[in-house]
Amino acid sequence: MEFPSIRDVDLDGKTVIMRVDYNLPMDENGNITDHTRISMTMKTLNHIINRDGKIVLLSHLGRPEAKESHLKMNKVADMLSKIMDTRVKKLDGCIESEVCEGIKNMKSGDIIMLENIRFYDEEKEKDDIKRDSFAKKLADLADIYVNEAFAVSHRDHASVTGIPKHIPGCCGLSFMREIEMINDIVEKPDVPYVAIIAGAKKEKMFAVENLLKKADKILMGGIMGNTFLKAKGHDIGDSMYDENLLDEAKKLLEHGGGKIVLPVDVMVENGKESEQFPVEEVRKGMKIMDIGPETIVHYKNILRNAKTVIWSGPLGVFEKKPYEKGTLYIASFISGLDAKTLVGGGDTIAAMRKLNMMERMTHISTGGGAFVDFITKDKFPGAEALKESCECHGHFSK
Ligand code: 3PG
Repeated sequence: MEFPSIRDVDLDGKTVIMRVDYNLPMDENGNITDHTRISMTMKTLNHIINRDGKIVLLSHLGRPEAKESHLKMNKVADMLSKIMDTRVKKLDGCIESEVCEGIKNMKSGDIIMLENIRFYDEEKEKDDIKRDSFAKKLADLADIYVNEAFAVSHRDHASVTGIPKHIPGCCGLSFMREIEMINDIVEKPDVPYVAIIAGAKKEKMFAVENLLKKADKILMGGIMGNTFLKAKGHDIGDSMYDENLLDEAKKLLEHGGGKIVLPVDVMVENGKESEQFPVEEVRKGMKIMDIGPETIVHYKNILRNAKTVIWSGPLGVFEKKPYEKGTLYIASFISGLDAKTLVGGGDTIAAMRKLNMMERMTHISTGGGAFVDFITKDKFPGAEALKESCECHGHFSK
């Protein structure tokens, strides 16, 4: 590692500002449906508490346009309290004087959770000076910065890359494990190397472009798959897709050398019924909800000989029965392969947990976009920032 981990730091009596990614999936009533991202940080939290540090947690939740009340961190703080069996004090801001006061009064072993960092426009501010001045205010709250948020470390945001410019930074234990595991699997992938790219996030288009250089096949599903089906000229009825990505999808299909594999049949919601249709027969009024049984067989045949499989995004609307089958059958199949299997992303984790597949993959990454970026891009901003912090502030001496 070119930067220190929390294990290298003397924590006694120190205030640690720890960027976590507690952007947890929630149902329509705002109830948290999966807390894997909290569980993954437990070792680091306990490590700090056992060494008499004070913890200030900083996270985003969703992509708020304003200070939306359902995106406040309160429920997340409650969930953490329950899991840790200790009081986690939630504050209603991130940089205000009451926050500074609250932090000043902390005792060793205390945990404070700040408000959703994305309630502040400065977090994602494009102007470097404005973003940095916000980062400085956050840095002033603590002695040490810990990045335990692999899942958001592909973002050049104040809480990810800005704070460690001002105070010494290190990584948390989960962040470190993610990097070691993913590097180990993808630096020299065993071949055939098959990627499954599905779900909704538009950033994955860049991943498809990059994976074309590295993977042998890219199997598509979810909203991303719909966009490619439409780009290929199929009628996808009333299915969700991304209009803005159609041209890019067409280009990738043209130049992809046959590596991009699309569903041959789908499960559609036709009124209240679920029905299987060949992709050629989907028409107005139908909504694609999952890959169909023939696609499952087709994808299994491609995956059968794979030695490395990476997967980001559920293949269908897995949270709604009976549309979990594509994700379930493919997950179950790859878990039995003699291959390295790497699965990432909040929704994909939720799917794996729901389907009891968590223990059956080589590595489950907390990152969605971050996981895909880490695999496909040369630079990973969160890690770069820790390297620079180390150059600027020096290594920790215990
Ligand atoms: C995620 O869920 O992938 C991370 O929390 C990052 O969220 P973002 O894509 O909104 O930055």
